[in-house]
Amino acid sequence: MVVHASAAEMRRWCLERKAEGKSLGFVPTMGALHEGHASLMREAVRANDCAVLSVFVNPAQFAPHEDFDRYPRTWGADLAIAEKAGIQAIYAPKASAMYPPNYATYVQVERLQDGLCSGTRPHFFKGVATVVAKLFNAVPADRAYFGQKDAQQSAIIRRMARDLDFGIEIVEMPIVREADGLAMSSRNVYLSPEERTRALCLSRALFQVEAVMKVGERDAAKIIAAVRKEMANVDIDYIALVDADEMIPRDRIEGKILLAVAAQVGKTRLIDNIKFGNYGQSKPDLRGSAIEVPL
Ligand code: PAJ
Repeated sequence: MVVHASAAEMRRWCLERKAEGKSLGFVPTMGALHEGHASLMREAVRANDCAVLSVFVNPAQFAPHEDFDRYPRTWGADLAIAEKAGIQAIYAPKASAMYPPNYATYVQVERLQDGLCSGTRPHFFKGVATVVAKLFNAVPADRAYFGQKDAQQSAIIRRMARDLDFGIEIVEMPIVREADGLAMSSRNVYLSPEERTRALCLSRALFQVEAVMKVGERDAAKIIAAVRKEMANVDIDYIALVDADEMIPRDRIEGKILLAVAAQVGKTRLIDNIKFGNYGQSKPDLRGSAIEVPL
């Protein structure tokens, strides 16, 4: 496994692999790797000849009052997890190289970046889209892997990749959970035991909706009310029932729906979601070319 800190070196490494006729999978992360990240890495390794991981805690997606400074940094453990998953190269740039003095260029994905997480984190998706565009330039992969855990983020990246002709297929992978249902997150380490127990209401609220759906409920207001009731012991940021591709609120469950929640548990902000609809039959969004890359 090689580690590159410079975009030029990382790009050269990727282009050499491509010149050898190898396909490239890419998993962008902020490190503090857990089993959710590992599931993305394993899929990138499985479906491609070579897989690249990036580890970069992106200052542009944190507001000044947020947890940039205390965000967990576990470089040694991350290396071991990446190696075990079969990653061949890691891109780990320095913030000063990513954002040199007088940095001025940002990417914004209109409409999709409104609502949900941008309500309390208005800076967030501009920072994410910008850094992922830069990461895609350093790692010109065939496929990039994102988690449904951050469903608004993956919808935004998919649209950006298509709109800006990156030619990278965006693959969204299922949410990996702890045995008790809590969605894995690098931020879960912030939770005290009492908060950890309270945090379970997010996944419980979502699973309960699956049961309500099975008996025929399709009304968004009723579903949101049931979720709100289950989340009474945490500080709700939002409960949103939206079209899964466009992030537009829906009154009824029809087509591809994303039910997403965010809440503050103590000092920790947690998100979770479930999707409904015919995902099994939908084709992955292929970007840039008319050539379908088989998964
Ligand atoms: P990070 O939070 O490190 O997550 C990296 C990737 O892992 C994201 O695509 C995220 O959705 C996925 N992931 C996190 N928890 C997961 C879980 N429990 N199950 C499945 N996938 C999970 O998301 C970011 O970093 C950053 O915003 C980034 C895209 C790297 C840009 O800075």
